[in-house]
Amino acid sequence: MMLALTFQDVARHADVLRVRSGQSITVRFVEPKDAAALQDYFRGLSSRSRYNRFLGALSELPRTELEKSLHIGEDNRFTVIALIKADGAEAIVGEARYAIEPESGRFEFGLSVDDRWQGHGIGPALLSNLQCRAAALGAQRIFGDTLRSNESMIKLARKAGYAFGPTPNDWKLVRFEKPIVLAPDEIPCASWRLAASHPAAVALAH
Ligand SMILES: CC(C)(COP(=O)(O)OP(=O)(O)OC[C@H]1O[C@@H](n2cnc3c(N)ncnc32)[C@H](O)[C@@H]1OP(=O)(O)O)[C@@H](O)C(=O)NCCC(=O)NCCS
Repeated sequence: MMLALTFQDVARHADVLRVRSGQSITVRFVEPKDAAALQDYFRGLSSRSRYNRFLGALSELPRTELEKSLHIGEDNRFTVIALIKADGAEAIVGEARYAIEPESGRFEFGLSVDDRWQGHGIGPALLSNLQCRAAALGAQRIFGDTLRSNESMIKLARKAGYAFGPTPNDWKLVRFEKPIVLAPDEIPCASWRLAASHPAAVALAH
């Protein structure tokens, strides 16, 4: 099963978010030209952040994972990057990968923020954006798994109204989950606007 998303559509799903610190970040699907920058971003994370993100010790994204990350919509999986303009150039300050299971309407995600940018509200802004993207894909529930020791992620999920429970088959992890509810008059992300105006643009093709 594939998501019907053409290459031209990809750019139309970009959002500009204002974060707590007042800065603007752009959230958009990763493109093939971002491959090296995305890998540099992962290499630049602290080993603690990388451990928390990948649930294990990895120095970088394995090549096959990097390749998969660049194929937006394949197997209903997506990668977005968060960019900030600094000194005239755009830098990746965060990323998220998500997947929708069309049969169950469940939307799973993982995310990270560059260590130097943590604590500025980028995580919460990215999380709200993911919830909107989930709604645009028709998801009913959104969830993620994190290490029980990951206080920052647990705090972030708690503040965003997620409920906590065990992750099946892994006692080291905790699952945070919540239903997707978006008010009909709320149009908080590009994917939602596109879904509302052109249902076929984001329709799940069987
Ligand atoms: C979890 C994560 C995404 C949160 O993103 P963020 O942009 O830092 O989010 P916030 O700015 O709201 O900070 C979250 C909280 O963590 C704390 N925090 C985050 N980074 C911190 C830092 N470097 N030093 C001290 N406290 C920090 C803050 O107290 C903040 O709490 P507050 O809401 O009371 O201010 C980010 O810490 C991260 O990328 N961690 C590594 C990867 C990871 O764990 N991913 C989750 C796997 S699903």
